[in-house]
Amino acid sequence: MRTFSQVILSLSFVFIVGCSTAEKEKPYTIGFAQCTHGDDWRKAMLEGMEKELSFHPQVKLLMKDAHDDSQLQIQQIRELVASKIDLLIISPNEAQPITPVVEEVFNQGIPVIIVDRRTNSKLFTAYVGGDNLQIGQTAGLYVGELLQKQGKVLEITGTPSASAASERHQAFSQALRKYPGIELMPSLNGDWERPYVMKRLPEVLKKNPDVNLIFAQNDRMALGAYQVCKALGIEHQVKIVGVDGLSGPKGGLQFVEDGIFKATLLYPTGGEEAIRTALKILDNESYAKENILGTLVIDSSNVHILKQQSEKIVDQRQDIQKQQVRIEEQNRLYDSQQTVLYILGASLLTAVVFAGIAYKSLRSNRRITQQLKNQNEEISAQRNTISELAEQARQSTEAKLGFFTNFSHELRTPLTLILGPIDELLAAAPAGSNQRKDLEVIQRNARWLLKLINQLIDFRKIEVGKMPLRVAQYDLVSFTRTLLQAFEKTAQQRGIHLRFLPADALINAWFDANLLDKVIVNLVSNAFKFTPDHGSITIVLQTQSTDDTIRLTVEDTGPGLSEEQQNASLNGFIRGTNPLVWVRVLVWPWQKN
Ligand code: FRU
Repeated sequence: MRTFSQVILSLSFVFIVGCSTAEKEKPYTIGFAQCTHGDDWRKAMLEGMEKELSFHPQVKLLMKDAHDDSQLQIQQIRELVASKIDLLIISPNEAQPITPVVEEVFNQGIPVIIVDRRTNSKLFTAYVGGDNLQIGQTAGLYVGELLQKQGKVLEITGTPSASAASERHQAFSQALRKYPGIELMPSLNGDWERPYVMKRLPEVLKKNPDVNLIFAQNDRMALGAYQVCKALGIEHQVKIVGVDGLSGPKGGLQFVEDGIFKATLLYPTGGEEAIRTALKILDNESYAKENILGTLVIDSSNVHILKQQSEKIVDQRQDIQKQQVRIEEQNRLYDSQQTVLYILGASLLTAVVFAGIAYKSLRSNRRITQQLKNQNEEISAQRNTISELAEQARQSTEAKLGFFTNFSHELRTPLTLILGPIDELLAAAPAGSNQRKDLEVIQRNARWLLKLINQLIDFRKIEVGKMPLRVAQYDLVSFTRTLLQAFEKTAQQRGIHLRFLPADALINAWFDANLLDKVIVNLVSNAFKFTPDHGSITIVLQTQSTDDTIRLTVEDTGPGLSEEQQNASLNGFIRGTNPLVWVRVLVWPWQKN
């Protein structure tokens, strides 16, 4: 049985474990060292990452925002490594100061994906982002054609130590060299943000009021440039070209559509691609080291369609999000249903185990019941035999007693017939003659014999219930005293000291005088029989208030009864050696007075 339950329990364990270890993706932690999170382009990048991660709920993303501070970014990279990340994604704030720490992480064996901006080293696992050289070049060629190869151009750069800024500048200026009619002014550092442009540009424009075009390295700085031009009243004279091409009300697409910008160059954030590449690397799948995202010029000719597309993308993204919420709900439901299923499975198996145990004990119960039944049958057969034997014994005793009683009756008739002539002979016999003495002996013994036979017949009557008790209330003291008077003469003759000691002068009790006198006379006669001459016989009457009985004790100086003989004294004719004989007479109710 034990092995059976063990097997079932192991099966349930296997079932539960089997169910719960369904194919699951590995949990990864990806660290993301972001140079800044303070603008919409970076927010769009994170959104893209989160969208992609929502398909991989077991992957955790830890992002740290360096707020355009390279030292802070170095420190944050070390913190990410200390928190045991499996892979690092970094958008380096500045190329040069960040390069050593990125190499360090790479050399530790942690895969590194660089996004958007680059370091100065080749020690990284993969790059995901736009090609900033291409962006600069495309912008330069576009500007040259837009100005019809003539005019004055101002470039507003991002922080120059960032690779995106230096590469865009390098390729832009190089592209414009194709157009000798275009004058490229010394560039203005806008540090990627509109407020710096608003602060630094007015002075430059005041000195150079004939500028025809401003190329800002992102749309935020381009907006700042437009606002400065507008403030100076030259917004219609100065064409504005930006980079990024974000959708949304504050995005470059909107500004192109509104005619504020002449154009913007699409610079995809690459959030989704960065996560996809990260998972390929972590899952040891093949991946490309360089993942360059394309660019294009967005101007009035294509902004409409691009806006529509990007709106569609936004809609789709929202749909995906909704779907994902639904999927999560479904997953939760599935999980809870799965749990219920496991519980049901386990309960089922447990039920099978218990059913097995119950079946076993049912069988053993049946066996035990059958054994008991057999034993019962045996016992009742034995009981029947015993009662048959008892019945046989009773019948044989009955037959013996019947014979004995009949025989007693038969004896009484001739004895009565003997006693009649004896009485007559005695009446005629002369007083004091030997003949009379002999006749008296014959008469006494014949009467004694008759009395014994009568007692035998009475005993039999009591036995068969034919002799009803005739109880009445008498004084037991005077009753006993009267009986004892008959023995006084014998006592005198044999020198026996006969004493009667009642507990009270009067003891009223209910009894059958006819039967009790036989009991007392018998006991006293016995005492006389076994007491030697000059001995003593004491009859005591005691009342027992505790159990409503009266004790009659006949004590003599004869050989007495042993304990065994005492116990048997009421069942037969016993002669013994102990001087104390007692008998208990049950009476009801008795009164003291
Ligand atoms: C966002 C941003 C973009 C720009 C990129 C260059 O922080 O300034 O506008 O294209 O960074 O790294």
